[in-house]
Parts: sequence; structure tokens; C-alpha cells
Amino acid sequence: MKILYLNGPNLNLLGKREPNVYGRATLADIEAKVRKRAAQLKVGIDFRQSNLEGELVGWIQQAKGTFDVIVINAAAYTHTSIALRDAIAAVGIPTIEIHLSNIHAREEFRHKSLIAPVCRGQICGFGEKSYMLALEASVNVKATNKKSI
Ligand code: DQA
Repeated sequence: MKILYLNGPNLNLLGKREPNVYGRATLADIEAKVRKRAAQLKVGIDFRQSNLEGELVGWIQQAKGTFDVIVINAAAYTHTSIALRDAIAAVGIPTIEIHLSNIHAREEFRHKSLIAPVCRGQICGFGEKSYMLALEASVNVKATNKKSI
């Protein structure tokens, strides 16, 4: 099984960026923890970050045939990007939306996720643990798919 973790704009600044909201862990710290747990679960991981919407769209398109699940923290694009939503819908790979913060408890403009309707589910509000919870969810998404075939 292979999981593609995608991270959107400004997540390269984790650790320094608004630590009261996003915590002190860097994206590299989070990746290391995800990789450790993934190795235990015998799951392959690809972990990427981009500040560019088009690059994220390209990675989603290219995931077809290579990855079983996409985990995406689309960051601010969550609330704005029809292009990301369309890409997720187009490839049909089970996708899990994640956020460090609870977007529903923050400013009103963060309450709406344009990608949520095309994702299997949303995990938000658990800080860096959202990434680990998504790993457990991904393994279960796959198991569910196998059963339904
Ligand atoms: C975020 C929440 C978004 O609203 C915000 O734009 C981010 C990070 C999160 O992980 O909590 O950049 O996706």
C-alpha cells in the first residue's frame, strides 16, 4: 500500500508559523513520525509540500496508478480551490482531508472546505496528530475498498 501526503501553502513554515495555532513541530518532524509509524504498518509514504496550487493539482493527477490513498492538508487552498477539488474528483483515489487546527472553530472563512465533498472524510483539530490519525484512517479506507470488491 502507498499513501501520498500532500501539504499546501505555508506549511513549509510550520514550527515558526503561528505556533499558538499550529504547534512547534516542523513539517520535517511530522514527516519523520509518520514515516516511523508507516514502516510499522508496512505502508509506503511519499510526503510533499508546495506553495503552488498547480503543482498540487499535478501531483494529484499523477497519483493515479501509483498511490492507494491521498492524505491532503490543502492549507488555505482548502477554502478557495475548485481546481484541487476537481483534481481529487477526477482521479477517484480515496482522499482524506486533514488540518492541524479545528477549522470549524476559527474564522468563518475557514469553516467552508471546497474539497470536503469529494474526500472520504476530514480530520482536523488534533495538531500534528491529525497526520497520524490520517495514516490509521488510510489503512482502513483500503480495507473497506477490498471488502467491497
Ligand atoms: C490549516 C488550516 C487552514 O485554514 C490554513 O489556511 C492553513 C493550515 C491547518 O492545518 O490547520 O494554512 O490547513
